This record gives sequence, structure tokens and C-alpha cells, in this order.
Amino acid sequence: MTQIIQDSAASAASESAKSHPMWSSRMAFILAASGSAVGLGNIWKFPYITGENGGAAFVLVYLLCIAIVGIPIMIAEVMIGRRGGGSPLQSMRKLVADSGLSSRWKWLGGMGMLASFLILSFYSVIGGWAMTYVGNSVSGNFVGATTEQIGAIFGNLLGNPGELLLWHTLFMSLVILIVARGIRSGMEKAINILMPLLFVLLLVMVGYAMNTDHFAAGFSFLFSPDFSKLTTEGVLTALGHAFFTLSLGMGVMMAYGSYLPKQVSIVKTAVTVSVLDTVVALLAGLAIFPLVFANGLEPGAGPGLIFQTLPLAFSQMPGGVLFGTLFFVLLVVAAVTSAISLLEPVVEWLEEKPAISRFGATLIAGLSVWLLGIVTVLSFNVWADVTPLAMFERFEGKTLFDLLDFVTANLMMPLSGLLVAVFVGWFMSKQITEGELKLGNGLALNVFMFVLRYLTPAAVLVVFVYNLL
Ligand code: TRP
Repeated sequence: MTQIIQDSAASAASESAKSHPMWSSRMAFILAASGSAVGLGNIWKFPYITGENGGAAFVLVYLLCIAIVGIPIMIAEVMIGRRGGGSPLQSMRKLVADSGLSSRWKWLGGMGMLASFLILSFYSVIGGWAMTYVGNSVSGNFVGATTEQIGAIFGNLLGNPGELLLWHTLFMSLVILIVARGIRSGMEKAINILMPLLFVLLLVMVGYAMNTDHFAAGFSFLFSPDFSKLTTEGVLTALGHAFFTLSLGMGVMMAYGSYLPKQVSIVKTAVTVSVLDTVVALLAGLAIFPLVFANGLEPGAGPGLIFQTLPLAFSQMPGGVLFGTLFFVLLVVAAVTSAISLLEPVVEWLEEKPAISRFGATLIAGLSVWLLGIVTVLSFNVWADVTPLAMFERFEGKTLFDLLDFVTANLMMPLSGLLVAVFVGWFMSKQITEGELKLGNGLALNVFMFVLRYLTPAAVLVVFVYNLL
């Protein structure tokens, strides 16, 4: 009997030693969560969707979405994670048990994990593009190049599966190496170096932009709104992007929250992370648009903006090799810290199985993601004509990569965000929220609950339904 008790105590102890490391401080969590949030979304996507949607008016809507939808959902996700203390699936399981709810809610955590797994498979391929652009800049391939030549560099890259695979492999290897070492000695250490580096590089780029004659033009493009340029589509894009840029709806913030020490304020931390993320996006805009205007380029050039338009700016400016290289290093750094966060939910879940170590879990998850990434690699060349849903008009011409992107970003992310808001707002016991958020008695908690119950779901529902139709 004593033996049994001792055994189970020992196994409980070893299990908790195995599965409950913590971030070393509030600052460590803030850096890790902002590392997750700040990524390709801020430096690649935000500038080009802002450019396509006419600038400042769009930026204003985006800021509103961050405040009404982004911050409340981030608070809810981190709270679920910290209270649940496990992988998204495990945390949801625990919370529904504590609140006496149907165990089906746990699939909310499961969906998040699946989505982060799918997203990483193509995020890694695009991270690989950024790596090749570091190489291209350093070796002076952009110097004096024409628009056609720069377009050809991009086209050749996408057309070459071997090269895409090589860079995808390098990118995933880096991610696996960092994640395998664990929260403290791998991720925290890497992030402590990478995030400050990212800020410094970004400030250097903004400093450069300030010295061009077109800084004012870039500034007013971002900050003096012209509402006639705002479309319904633009509003929906802004809302969708608020999710993506804050890493919401994929279990990532739940997973990171599970390592958050109890005494840290979730609300303050979530607000800090969201503000940092927003500041980085705006700084990226301030670094990029002056260059775009200074070189007579088109702000609305689309997804190729930083891969095709910016190298052209770098090709013409003095010091272009240096600044071009800095810029793409920045992009790789941002992509790596986001990618490690996308791997974490699945790794944490695998690690909860008694037989699997952290290292094993990372290897299994990482290799599977790598394998799935080959689908994206081939979508740009060999399988460019494979469009399985072409019989539906709206999916005409959509490759497997496009479909992965669509399913995760337009379906899974908003659906999971909506369910998180509904779960915490309407179902989860309010005592849990009170206990975790410690907002004092009255007003602040009520405001939070009101936003999460009504405003957030309504806003998300609009995008979700629109995306489906
Ligand atoms: N937020 C990151 C970016 O802006 C991408 C990202 C990382 C992400 N983890 C996520 C997006 C989880 C959605 C969910 O590039």
C-alpha cells in the first residue's frame, strides 16, 4: 500500500517535473509572446495589405480590431492556458471538468493544435524565402538590378522545388533545434537575443527611412486617414489580420500561457504584447513606405511588396547591400520566433504522453511538419496546376498551398477565436475568470466580460460568415 502511494507520488512528481516548466519571469513571457506575435504578419503582410487598402483609414480600423477583438481573445487564451496548465487539449479538458461542461469543448484546444501544425508547414517555406533573400542581398545580387531581374530572382526561386526544399529544411531544422531544448534553455535563450536584435534592426531601418526625402509621404500614408479609400473588404481584412498578427486562434497563446507563473498579471501582459506587436507593425510600415515612395514604387503591389518591390529600392540606394541584408535578417528573426511558437502546442501535447521526451516530441512534430511542408514547396512548381477544389468557382486556380492558407486563416482561426470568446464569456465559470484576472471587484471585469460576450463574437462572426460566402 505504502509502496503504491510512494510510486504514484513519485510518478506524479516526475510527471509534473516533466511537464511544468515556467518562464523565468514576466519579461520572459512578454518576449516569447511578442516573439510569437511579431512575425511575417508584421513585416511582410501588414505593409502590403495596408498598401492595397489605401493606408491610414485601414490602419485605424486595424487598430480598433486589435483593441476590440485581439486583446480580449488574447487575454482569454492566456487565461485558459495558465489555468489549465497543459497543452491546449489538456487545458481545455481540465477547464471543462472544473466548470462541469461537456467534454466536447476540449476539441477547441485540439482544433487550435491542428491549425498551428498546418500553418507552420507553409510558414516555414516562406521563412525559407526570407533566408534566401539574406543570401541574395549579401552577395550583391540586387545591386543595380532591374525590375525584371528582381522579378526573375523571385520567379526562379518559386520555380525550383529543390531550392525551396533546401531552405524549408534549414528553416525547420533551426526551429526544431530551438524548441527541442525546451522552454527555458532553448526558447527563452534564443528569444532573449533575437527580440532585442529585431528591435535594433528595425530602428536602424526606420532611421534610414527618416533620412530619405520621402519619410513625410510614408508617414502621412500611414497616419492621415482618407476614409473614401476604405472598403468593406478592407474592414474584413483588418479584422482577419488582427487575429493572425497576435497569434490568436491556434492554441499558441494557450500553450505559452501554460508556462506563465501564477503571480503575473494576464491583462497587463496581454496588453503589453499587443501594443508591442502593433508598434512593430507600424515601425515596419514607417521603414518600408518611405522607400517605396522614394523609388516611385507602388504601395499596392501585393504580396510581392517586400520580396520584389523592396529589393528594387535596395538595388538603387547607397548602402543597399547593408540595409537589404539587415532587412531580410530582420525578417528571418521574426519568422523564427513565430515558428517556434507554432510548433510548441503540438510538442507540448506529445510531451504529455509518458513515453515521449521533450526531444522526441519535438522531433516527431518537427519532422511531420517538415513532411507536410513539401506540399507547399511543390504547390509553386510541380503541383502548380493541382487545384483539387477547382469545381467550386471560388476555389478556381487555388493550389494546395492556397487551400491550406484558406482553411487555416479563414476558417479555423476565426472559428476557434469565436469559440474561445463564447467559451470564456458564456460557459466557463466566472470564478475562474475572476481568480485568474484579478481585476478587483467591479467595473473592469464587467467591461471585459461585456466585450468578450457581445462585441468580440459579433465582430468575428461577421468576418467568418463573410469569408464563407
Ligand atoms: N503572429 C505571427 C505573425 O504575425 C504568425 C503566427 C505565429 C501565428 N503564431 C501564430 C498566427 C499562431 C496565428 C496563430 O507572423
